Amino acid sequence: MPALAVGSDEHKATFCRVFVDTFHPYEVREVEWPALDADELARLRALPFWHEAVGSERTAAARVAAMADVEPDPVLREAIAMQAYEEARHADLVESLMRHYEIAVPDAFPQKPRDAEWGFLRMGYGECFDSFFAFGLFRIAADSGIFPRPLVQRFDGVMQEEARHILFFANWVAYRGLQLPYHLRPRFLVRRGLGASVQALARARTAMEMRDGTVNDDNFTMQVPPELGDVTLTKLAQICLDENERRLAPYDDRLLRPRFVPRLVRWALRTGGRNANGAAPDAAG
Ligand SMILES: [Fe+2]
Ligand SMILES: [Fe+2]
Repeated sequence: MPALAVGSDEHKATFCRVFVDTFHPYEVREVEWPALDADELARLRALPFWHEAVGSERTAAARVAAMADVEPDPVLREAIAMQAYEEARHADLVESLMRHYEIAVPDAFPQKPRDAEWGFLRMGYGECFDSFFAFGLFRIAADSGIFPRPLVQRFDGVMQEEARHILFFANWVAYRGLQLPYHLRPRFLVRRGLGASVQALARARTAMEMRDGTVNDDNFTMQVPPELGDVTLTKLAQICLDENERRLAPYDDRLLRPRFVPRLVRWALRTGGRNANGAAPDAAG
């Protein structure tokens, strides 16, 4: 197939159509949670991220809905509103699981951001980080049985929806940067850079807190449960890279892929490997 010109109407039509055509319909109220044995239930309740997960999904839903509200283009708005629906459904799904298995549910609901574009940019880059690491951690947790096997398939669908979200975001951000009138492009470029930097710095801080043993509840996908202690960071990074590629593989290969986080992780792997071998650190570091 001929390449897509990024920023063209065909590019927009394609990344929106891929998103809308791969929607998976289901209602949370129809989900039947399986019975878990005592060990599985204990492992489920011990997972450290439920509280943060439901909060993150509610925040994502509010931010994406705010962007859908201000998007004048009906094709983009349909896709963004669908993402907002999916984020709200993720929050409802996690909440439903927590209630069913008697895990305390937080009652805070975020406000819609006043600056919709900034909220969407920050959220999008945040998802690019969180989804990348969630893909790998989910694979390890599912294979090891730490995540109860009867629930794997249900949450595999959530992971795949997150893959669609970051694919959409990577294309939206490139499209928007080229569609804006010339005088507004530098401002958008700065906001893109800031959005990515804010999220990268937050994850770097979490990584340092993990190293120092002071990690808090933020950036939950960066937390590795202690049961996974025998997974080295290098192995985790490789699994995340492989899973990221696998999850994004089914979609039209003319679309842009989220590249920022995989590149950062590949660079860290190369730099870490060289430093561990006693070679000079990468000049870029
Ligand atoms: Fe989500
Ligand atoms: Fe998402």
